[in-house]
Amino acid sequence: MNAIAEAKHLHEEITAESMRAHWMPFTANRQFKSAPRLLVAAEGMHYTSHDGRKILDGIAGLWCCNAGHGRKPIVEAIQKQAATMDFGTPFNMGHPLGFELANRVIEISPKNMGHVFFTNSGSESVDTALKIAIAYQRMKGQGTRTRLIGRERGYHGVNFGGISVGGIVGNRKLFGTLLSGVDHLPHTHLPKDNAFSKGQPEHGAHLADELERLVALHDASTIAAVIVEPIAGSTGVLIPPKNYLQRLRELCTKHGILLIFDEVITGFGRTGSEFAAQHYNVMPDMIACAKGLTSGTVPMGAVIATPEIYNAFMTGPEHMIELTHGYTYSGHPLACAAGVATLKLYQDEALFERAASLAPYWEAGIHSLKGTKNVIDIRNTGLIGAIELQPREGEPVKRAFEVFLECYRRGLLVRTTGDIIALSPPFIIEKSHIDQIFETLRDVISSTP
Ligand SMILES: Cc1ncc(COP(=O)(O)O)c(C=O)c1O
Repeated sequence: MNAIAEAKHLHEEITAESMRAHWMPFTANRQFKSAPRLLVAAEGMHYTSHDGRKILDGIAGLWCCNAGHGRKPIVEAIQKQAATMDFGTPFNMGHPLGFELANRVIEISPKNMGHVFFTNSGSESVDTALKIAIAYQRMKGQGTRTRLIGRERGYHGVNFGGISVGGIVGNRKLFGTLLSGVDHLPHTHLPKDNAFSKGQPEHGAHLADELERLVALHDASTIAAVIVEPIAGSTGVLIPPKNYLQRLRELCTKHGILLIFDEVITGFGRTGSEFAAQHYNVMPDMIACAKGLTSGTVPMGAVIATPEIYNAFMTGPEHMIELTHGYTYSGHPLACAAGVATLKLYQDEALFERAASLAPYWEAGIHSLKGTKNVIDIRNTGLIGAIELQPREGEPVKRAFEVFLECYRRGLLVRTTGDIIALSPPFIIEKSHIDQIFETLRDVISSTP
């Protein structure tokens, strides 16, 4: 039996009882288990569903499979590494691919970056970057700088650091008092001024100046770092207003505050540039990344830091560990093999350039939905898009969820967050797929009550 037939066969045995044990992440468990949607295989731009249908992947898995699915060079690299060396402790030991991958990451990072610390996910990258920021300030003799500044509507994963600096209330309210010493900038969603902007909206740079207010309130000497997503993804794709990131950079520099970009979704070509930092020409002090690093094939994340930050730790006796932080699976050999093969593939197939060259077609496609029933805003950049729907009276989220279900029924995978449909396809997408995505969405949105 081939893999797909086997997976379908397995599904025939899936019943409400057999699904009970799996507590699914960020999922409406009861709804799912009453009408399961299982993906059983993937190749190129498509998944195969358990009922044997081809599903066009409009979201690169979950903003991660930038090179498309089942890419041979990556698959073979993982297979080879699994057979050569499954695992080796990353503490006081190393393996060649870890160093090769770090060098390759630096090659495509902003010029001010010099060092890479590996993690296993975006959430771990964020918490790692926050810890490094606080520790860095202490290493520099500025131990009072412990405060962290995030942003309303920000998403920085689900660990305690990330949800503390994050600003999505639904992800915070269940979990107690979170980290102390955190404050938030205002979000940049200004629909009255910016609705239906193509690329960067005109209005909102002044919102970066709110950092001055926070500095006046807390004093710069208490603030370690500001963390923002250059493009806020999970809250429904908020593109930074023109000059906003530049202003934030200037203010951080002025006040000795580190600027961390959370590029978990924007890293590795999503904007058409390597990172959003280069796209917007704003250089942070650290970048948290994950997802596209291995094109989603093996869990992996990384924090990219400047030499200034790394060197601050390289003091004291040489036999002592400089940064008491790390994960058993930091730089896991399979992840490194996947990462090296992925970055090579991006380069060999010029996939970031491909994303950039398709961006205008993507933009025209998504904005052609303006005027469709219930569409109240459309946002885009690179191969990123969002369509915001008017929430149904008294039933927030439901309209978009119904659109998601109907798209899936019609062979298209999209993602919804609140009443916003978010899109982020693999970079191997063809224009015909772009047409299919927006024609399906136009039809489905128009026919959804
Ligand atoms: C900006 C951002 N940060 C962090 C994360 C968390 O990444 P992970 O789910 O790999 O922990 C995500 C996930 O979507 C993200 O979009």
